[in-house]
Amino acid sequence: MADLNELSEKLGGIKAEIKEELSKLETSKSVFEYKKAIFDSKAGKVGSLMREMGKIPNEMKAEYGKRVNELKNWAQEKFDEMDAKFKAEEMRLKYESEKIDVTMPGQVRKQGFLHPNTLVRNRIVDIFGSMGFEIFEGTEIETDYYNFTALNTPDDHPARDMQDTFYLSDKFLLRTQTSAGQIHVMEKEQPPIKIISPGKVFRSDDDATHSPMFSQMEGLVVDKGITLCDLKGMLDEFVQKIFGEGVSTRLRPSYFPFTEPSVEVDVSCFQCHGKGCKLCKGTGWIEVLGAGVVNKKVLEGCGIDSDVYSGFAFGIGIERIAMLKYGINNIKHLFESDLRVLEQIRE
Ligand code: DAH
Repeated sequence: MADLNELSEKLGGIKAEIKEELSKLETSKSVFEYKKAIFDSKAGKVGSLMREMGKIPNEMKAEYGKRVNELKNWAQEKFDEMDAKFKAEEMRLKYESEKIDVTMPGQVRKQGFLHPNTLVRNRIVDIFGSMGFEIFEGTEIETDYYNFTALNTPDDHPARDMQDTFYLSDKFLLRTQTSAGQIHVMEKEQPPIKIISPGKVFRSDDDATHSPMFSQMEGLVVDKGITLCDLKGMLDEFVQKIFGEGVSTRLRPSYFPFTEPSVEVDVSCFQCHGKGCKLCKGTGWIEVLGAGVVNKKVLEGCGIDSDVYSGFAFGIGIERIAMLKYGINNIKHLFESDLRVLEQIRE
């Protein structure tokens, strides 16, 4: 470097070049990159100036250092200025694009809901749960023994024809009734027994009110001194909780092999309150379940002393209750998963 004039010219050139380049930049990122390149200690126009100190005559060194520093400071300031300007604009655009209009209507998300069968089953479980019943889960595949024989329905018994059975083999079948669970419980436990047993059952049966697969809820109470009166009292409580205050039950004689006496239980019509309507077919009463006093033969077969203990049992059709409660006229609606139907039934 011959003299200071030459130095001034060189530094002035660099300054002009930086000014020129900066005027072309449009983003904070490009400013950052340009700055990195300029200040690079090897290849950078500004960064490399200090490396040339060795070539500068001694008497000029101080001045050279001062001017290079001035240029550096000036460049740094320029970069800071540009960086701040672009960043402000970039933030503004970012906020603009992310702006939320709180007055816009919200996105309504569809929420799932429980199937009517599940609603009814849960409700029944709650009601009996609050009365101290425990749950026994049986199995859908049963042996002929548990589904029939132990329930006082031996091979040649005409009552076997009451239920059209899907046999899997000579011995195994798809249970036709949750009553099979009664036997499992009584074989394992001595009284007091107080259980309900919900689950799917299967019968070769198919029309508007019957389906080859449906669900039942079995109930069994065995203890000392249990009578039909206890059954009636409990059922009155149950129907009020499921169909509403003021409804009552009536018992009609019926027949089931595993109960003696057996009854068909009607509930007073919760729609017309006894006056007679379409739902109760003008009778004021609706049949809801089967029940009875546990047959002594069944108790004895499970090793329970029928001179000491007695019990009652009942079997509720879950779909039947759901259909009555929600005014569903075809059992298929409960299995077809048609949302147009199911969405009308919410609790
Ligand atoms: N298991 C019978 C059926 O499926 C219903 C039933 C009736 C169950 C009387 C009972 C009972 O426990 O006592 O038709």
